[in-house]
Amino acid sequence: MGKTVKVVVTGATGQVAYALLPRIASGGMFGPDTEVDLRLWDIPPMIDKAKGVIMELEDGAYPLLARVTASADRAETHGDIDWALLVGSVPRGPGMERGDLIRKNGPIFLEEGRAIARHGGRDVRVVVVGNPCNTNCLIAREAAGPSIPDDRWTALTRLDQNRARALLAAKAGARMRDVKRLAIWGNHSATLYPDFTNAVVGGRKAAAAVDRAWLETEFIALVQQRGAAVIAARGVSSAFSAAQAVVDHVRSLLTPTPADDWASVAVVSDGGYGVPKGLVSSFPVRVAGDGWWEVVQGVELDAFARGKVDATVAELVREREMVQDLIAGAAAR
Ligand SMILES: NC(=O)c1ccc[n+]([C@@H]2O[C@H](COP(=O)([O-])OP(=O)(O)OC[C@H]3O[C@@H](n4cnc5c(N)ncnc54)[C@H](O)[C@@H]3O)[C@@H](O)[C@H]2O)c1
Repeated sequence: MGKTVKVVVTGATGQVAYALLPRIASGGMFGPDTEVDLRLWDIPPMIDKAKGVIMELEDGAYPLLARVTASADRAETHGDIDWALLVGSVPRGPGMERGDLIRKNGPIFLEEGRAIARHGGRDVRVVVVGNPCNTNCLIAREAAGPSIPDDRWTALTRLDQNRARALLAAKAGARMRDVKRLAIWGNHSATLYPDFTNAVVGGRKAAAAVDRAWLETEFIALVQQRGAAVIAARGVSSAFSAAQAVVDHVRSLLTPTPADDWASVAVVSDGGYGVPKGLVSSFPVRVAGDGWWEVVQGVELDAFARGKVDATVAELVREREMVQDLIAGAAAR
């Protein structure tokens, strides 16, 4: 048996966590040779419910689950963690605008960022799932300060990539594994851009496999609206597909990327591709043999793609402006 990985999952009694926790406990995230010390964090009213989740995890008798605990105190759950999977956030209420949600969730991610910096392990890595995940990640990253480098902070756009891959495969009559290099750019929101211009289906450009007009219009809209379509059909938002995407996201960060593919990850921009430095934006990412990631360089964006990337990045700029006071306060501490 290899090492034990310490993982905190926030929002541990929510529906995404309910699908995510068994996947982690069964080894789906960290592999068959790694034991997991799982810490469940949630707000105080949910801790009794979290104890029920612990009972279910215990009842799974997972051989790799070394320990599972729950608390609403981050000093207890975040001690020496290797991974922080930040799922918890205030859900969007009726009539709530995206801007209201951003302002409402900002303080949670200020607290998270500070707690991770104070209690987390030396090499802690963070995945923000709770929406609006890009800007929440940016806030947590700012609040944590310089002790945790930029390259440890990520937000989830893998669900969008998975959705895009499945939709394109179905349209092209291809197998899922034949669709490669289909990267999501920008925000996890209705402005996200699934870049079909560099995607490959069965070894040829996507636009040679399916009609470009469909890609430019219906395909993009289908990916952008897929979350809303699931809510309309199911009455609640995506849960096990989101959990699967979190597993895929972490596994992609831990394993070398196949030479013919990329993974979509929202990371802290270094200013490349015209995305302002410091924004948390989705890019095509590759993980090298040494286990560390880099944004794929030299991806060509034609005029159409450039326009779509600029639009989603402009939204990220506006979101950062909305939380400027929170970030400024965080930096001052
Ligand atoms: N990035 C993505 O692709 C993606 C996909 C699916 C869901 N999500 C987001 O993940 C989050 C969780 O989704 P869900 O379906 O599990 O929601 P849920 O409503 O079932 O669970 C929300 C969780 O957050 C906790 N919570 C509530 N108020 C909180 C607060 N003030 N501080 C901290 N935690 C609080 C709740 O106790 C609960 O555990 C949502 O923000 C959702 O939009 C993101």
